[in-house]
Amino acid sequence: MANGDFGLGNESTIIKSGIREVFTPHIPVDEITHFFGREDEATRLVSVINSPGQHILLYGDRGVGKTSLAKTTCKVILQKIQRGHFFEKRCDSGDTFSSIFEEPLEKSGIDLSFKEETNTHNQGGGAAINAGFAKADLSSKRETKTTNSANFKPDSPSWVANQLKSLSGIMLIDEADAIQLDSDKKKIAELIKLLSDHNSTFKLVVVGIATTGEELTAGHPSVERCLKEVSLQRMCDDDLKKIILNGMQSLSLRPDDDVVNKIVDISAGYPHFTHLISLKCGEAALIDNNRHITMDVLKSALNEAVKDSEGALQRMLESTLRVLNTPQEYKLLLLTASYCSTPEFRSAELRDKLKSKFGVEVDSKALSRRLTKLTQGDEITILYKPARGCFQFTDPRMPSFLKMALNSDDNEI
Ligand SMILES: Nc1ncnc2c1ncn2[C@@H]1O[C@H](COP(=O)(O)OP(=O)(O)OP(=O)(O)O)[C@@H](O)[C@H]1O
Ligand SMILES: [Mg+2]
Repeated sequence: MANGDFGLGNESTIIKSGIREVFTPHIPVDEITHFFGREDEATRLVSVINSPGQHILLYGDRGVGKTSLAKTTCKVILQKIQRGHFFEKRCDSGDTFSSIFEEPLEKSGIDLSFKEETNTHNQGGGAAINAGFAKADLSSKRETKTTNSANFKPDSPSWVANQLKSLSGIMLIDEADAIQLDSDKKKIAELIKLLSDHNSTFKLVVVGIATTGEELTAGHPSVERCLKEVSLQRMCDDDLKKIILNGMQSLSLRPDDDVVNKIVDISAGYPHFTHLISLKCGEAALIDNNRHITMDVLKSALNEAVKDSEGALQRMLESTLRVLNTPQEYKLLLLTASYCSTPEFRSAELRDKLKSKFGVEVDSKALSRRLTKLTQGDEITILYKPARGCFQFTDPRMPSFLKMALNSDDNEI
């Protein structure tokens, strides 16, 4: 039997609607029209970047919206306040101090890939003769090229600072937590200090996953005065609601109030999930040619959202459940844990929640044993113990994933 059109008909409806430009779970926002909330943080970023000698360190949990905030703010500054270049470097584990600054160094005339610096000298000094009716510029068009790659010191913060200090613009160093060596992180901090001492108009915005700013600067002591730290927390419910309602409205989609509230609840402050679930709800509605989004639409959208979720989260849940004798019991336990209000929870809190939310009574010792089992294993486990008697999800996005994955089959529980 033929395979039909591989869903191409639906795809073309979805693409024509523009929904994938509105809800972008896998792409950071970089336009003010799609950027919501974060007023205080954005104001602080703008004011720090515009203060002489100050640079920014933006850190927070995975997926809270760091890149979106940094990119949107940099763009606004460069469009509306000052002119200059924008450089963006996403670091990976192979990056070192010298590889990070290749692009701005190239902009200032240094091409590290050829290991050649080209200095162009105009000869003739601009002398001119004035012959009464005409002025002839005798500046020679002869140019000499000097190549002195031996003088390149891309590993040296002071050499890099000297090359970059007269550039104007902003450089976003994203995923700084991926830089492997502390010595490379320290060098970035040193460069910031030097640029600040030179009162350079070249500003750095360092972004990464961390719980403290120190993790990203490897605790460099003297950089504190010129590197302002902004810690980004999860988004508040009202701002997540704005993402859903503005996006839906721009597409003429009408979600029920309980759908909006459920998406906000599942998202738990992570805009990635808000975009993902809204996208899947919207796609389903567009395919059905019914712009009204009900709880039934949401339910099937959650299944689709789970399939599109990050593999790491799916694998972690699967590998956890696979080795357990009573996976259904553990599913209920994990789902209940994902409704705890603080990242850290105790077994007593979970016991109360199991009773109030699902009407299930569990013996406290048995519950503690089960929770502890979820913290044990050779690989990274789904829970860990931050302190005696406390439990926490290893990946802070796991509660949202569990609410999607397990709510969509909550009849089984
Ligand atoms: N202020 C915002 N308004 C609307 N959507 C946002 C906002 N901030 C983030 N998002 C959306 O949330 C998702 C995650 O954002 P982003 O990639 O910026 O997070 P991150 O903290 O940089 O993530 P990671 O730790 O994986 O690098 C993206 O889909 C982005 O579109
Ligand atoms: Mg990011």
